[in-house]
Amino acid sequence: KISSVSGANRKRKWKEDEEEEQKAEESSDLDTSSDEEEEEEDQEEKEQHKTEQNGQNEKISDQEKVENKTPSQPAVFIPVDRSPEIQEARLKLPVLAEEQVIMEAVRENPCVVICGETGSGKTTQVPQFLYEAGYASGSEIIGITEPRRVAAVSMSHRVAKEMNLSTRVVSYQIRYEGNVTSDTKIKFMTDGVLLKEIQKDFLLQRYSVIIIDEAHERSVYTDILIGLLSRIVPLRNKKGMPMKLLVMSATLRVEDFTDNTKLFRTPPPVIKVDARQFPVTIHFNKRTPMEDYTGEVFHKICKIHRMLPPGGILVFLTGQAEVHNLCRKLRKAFPYRKGNTTTDEDEETSETMRKFKKAKQKKTSLPRIDLDNYSALPVDEGDEDREAGIGDEEDEGSDLDIGDDPASIEEKADPSIPLYVLPLYSLLAPEQQAKVFRPSPHGTRACVVATNVAETSLTIPGIKYVVDCGRVKKRFYDRVTGVSSFRVTWTSQASANQRAGRAGRTEPGHCYRLYSSAVFGDFSLFSEAEITRRPVEDLVLQMKDLNIDKVVNFPFPTSPSAEALVAAEQLLVSLGALKEPPRTGRVKEMEQARLSCPITPLGRAMASFPVAPRYAKMLALGRQQDCLPYVIAVVAAMTVREIFEDLDRPACSEDESSKLIQRRARLTQMRRLWAGQGASLLLGDLMVMLGAVGACEFAGCTPKFCEENGLRYKAMVEIRRLRGQLTNAVNAVCPEVGVFVNPKMTPPTEHQVVCLRQIVLAGLGDHLARRVQAEDILDPKWKNGYKTPLLDDPVYIHPTSALFKTLPDFIVYQEIMETTKMYMRGVSAIEAEWIPELLPQYCHFGSPLESPSPWLCSSTGTIKCHRSSTFFRVGWQLPAVEME
Ligand code: CDP
Ligand code: MG
Repeated sequence: KISSVSGANRKRKWKEDEEEEQKAEESSDLDTSSDEEEEEEDQEEKEQHKTEQNGQNEKISDQEKVENKTPSQPAVFIPVDRSPEIQEARLKLPVLAEEQVIMEAVRENPCVVICGETGSGKTTQVPQFLYEAGYASGSEIIGITEPRRVAAVSMSHRVAKEMNLSTRVVSYQIRYEGNVTSDTKIKFMTDGVLLKEIQKDFLLQRYSVIIIDEAHERSVYTDILIGLLSRIVPLRNKKGMPMKLLVMSATLRVEDFTDNTKLFRTPPPVIKVDARQFPVTIHFNKRTPMEDYTGEVFHKICKIHRMLPPGGILVFLTGQAEVHNLCRKLRKAFPYRKGNTTTDEDEETSETMRKFKKAKQKKTSLPRIDLDNYSALPVDEGDEDREAGIGDEEDEGSDLDIGDDPASIEEKADPSIPLYVLPLYSLLAPEQQAKVFRPSPHGTRACVVATNVAETSLTIPGIKYVVDCGRVKKRFYDRVTGVSSFRVTWTSQASANQRAGRAGRTEPGHCYRLYSSAVFGDFSLFSEAEITRRPVEDLVLQMKDLNIDKVVNFPFPTSPSAEALVAAEQLLVSLGALKEPPRTGRVKEMEQARLSCPITPLGRAMASFPVAPRYAKMLALGRQQDCLPYVIAVVAAMTVREIFEDLDRPACSEDESSKLIQRRARLTQMRRLWAGQGASLLLGDLMVMLGAVGACEFAGCTPKFCEENGLRYKAMVEIRRLRGQLTNAVNAVCPEVGVFVNPKMTPPTEHQVVCLRQIVLAGLGDHLARRVQAEDILDPKWKNGYKTPLLDDPVYIHPTSALFKTLPDFIVYQEIMETTKMYMRGVSAIEAEWIPELLPQYCHFGSPLESPSPWLCSSTGTIKCHRSSTFFRVGWQLPAVEME
């Protein structure tokens, strides 16, 4: 075993730091928990929650005692029989030099942070150190989490091979597959898988060590895991079942973990692993292509391949579709016959298509929606395998065939040396992924076209040239609408440097940045923690799904604001995703209960749909009346911002301006057409969206059709992808529904439109507005204005809305945008009679004498209704029932 002087010094350094910090801590009470002792709860499902609460309430003195008492390492040493080649290769890895330091730190501390450049050997070697030191010698095993599936699978194979052990012993578990056996000692898994395991066994009794890998990615699930484990580890130690936590990061920015006293009362030691890195020459572009950056990438690869000495090329793009398009183009330009992987791609597509099941078209009798009829598995069967898809952002999940845009080869390249082109992204089949680790065929140059999965999770051998488009596909959330969407944005400086670093692993390399140095200067230094980019109702729902009921007390590495968490909880209760807190009792108890509502079965179903909770509710209710394909289309369209071309674009010349007027007239006409007449018009702007999606798909979703009809082509393609993804999600939660979304839909029937309006109301219930009645108008500003429960000022229907002239009495809206006035977008008309039935949680039921108007907005956001009034008695105003 190797020990380094620098390592030993470093160790002494952090020992001192630790002592100092411990002293500082003694003088301050860091117990921030506000809980009182919880009452005995006999329900079994509450057990885990309780355990966690107790863990959080641990008094500091106790915890420190426990931490200091942590038993030293297991006594056994487990020999590993490695091949000489492997042994030799390992010795070159920087992390080997720190083995003793790492193991000593692990022995003496419950939690340890390890920082080291990608490729320094953290992921492959640290589990082996622990194995050899006997951490898996008993019945307990070593667990490692990865934010990405690719890494979990490929790393488990790699480690098994290095240790000369079977995959029965070094195994992996990801969302739908795994090879874990009773012999498993080292288990690689995605963070989502471990989160689900925590839900089943809060103490994680199977594990002696948990390694959280790639913590720098700051995925929501990794963050939550670290928060949870900061409580689980002391709890395990206290119970005499010691457990270790290792957090591994590729960057040195770990203060969010180490300097966060809410998280770790004693800051964990940080061990830095020196990188072995050859110099990488950075080449910036003079100009920055804004539109066709993939074209620019193609040209750059052609140039490198034709002019520069041998060495693999690694290309960073943003998403799966881009990766495939570029691979296709490159294969055409530099054909490589044997082992060309084009056919594999086709297999993959058909495999995805096979997943769709044709639903039996059954007609049900009543065209009304039922709030208790939603897509959810029975509570106990829980979809245990569901994996948090976060971290797979580049795989926004196109499961519908997007069609093949004819890739024209502009550059005639010299095809004498074949280019061995390989795609790499998270959802690629494992056999395909494994190809990037094998040497490319003799006489070829390897070219790996990857998403940011190749940035830190995987080290691809033999890369000398990196081509970086500078962009990344990220999930974005609109705080106003709670809408989540995927957008391509500039990456951060830290990420760009990680990408460049991939070129210098084995020899000096070059990185071609397809943007100017000025643009690079404008990049943010680090990527933000995902948690700060998320709407919290979404996050709170996910945590409740993990039975973390008291989200406000949760030790987040970076915490959302308390107000945001409380508001999220309230919204989720009103959506039916969380159990309603008791309305009577002692004030303090009620207050507590209001902030720790447990999840409902509906909430569990909603948590599995990758959209904001309001839309998730619509999806859950959508199976009624065969509405699901329409609900999916509407939700997808609402999630993608701006499906229409901007009609107000200023014109330059007179000629252009008259053309623009013509065009505007045509587009307005199209919208009117899509909105339809009578019943369908009442679905309003959502009907326009549905009509646009339907018409566009019917025409084959071509750029030409979109251009002619004022639709944004990119938006339409994105909607198509999202429809595929949402269809899979609904099928996974509720397989017996078996929806099949054909891109081409027939328009909904009148009955279905009524149901759609009800479903939309159930989801957007807190976005309700009532037209101010003529007799109530005292101030002219209220003319044509609407009142919402929370805003004091009037809001208006936007002139481009399908319902601008109709002015229905009651509407729900998607969002409010403030321009010259406060305008509602995405408006649908609803019937007043539906409110008490579909939104009872917002209603205050009183006698007609109490409030003369049937519906009033109060400052608290409740809606006053008369339970006894006639309109409530009449119930649903629905079209006549049609029997088969
Ligand atoms: O986790 P970290 O980025 O620090 O490094 P690692 O993933 O453990 O990789 C250590 C070394 O193993 C790298 O230099 C890779 O080239 C090599 N490796 C490999 O050859 N094949 C794999 N499937 C995985 C890693
Ligand atoms: Mg790694």
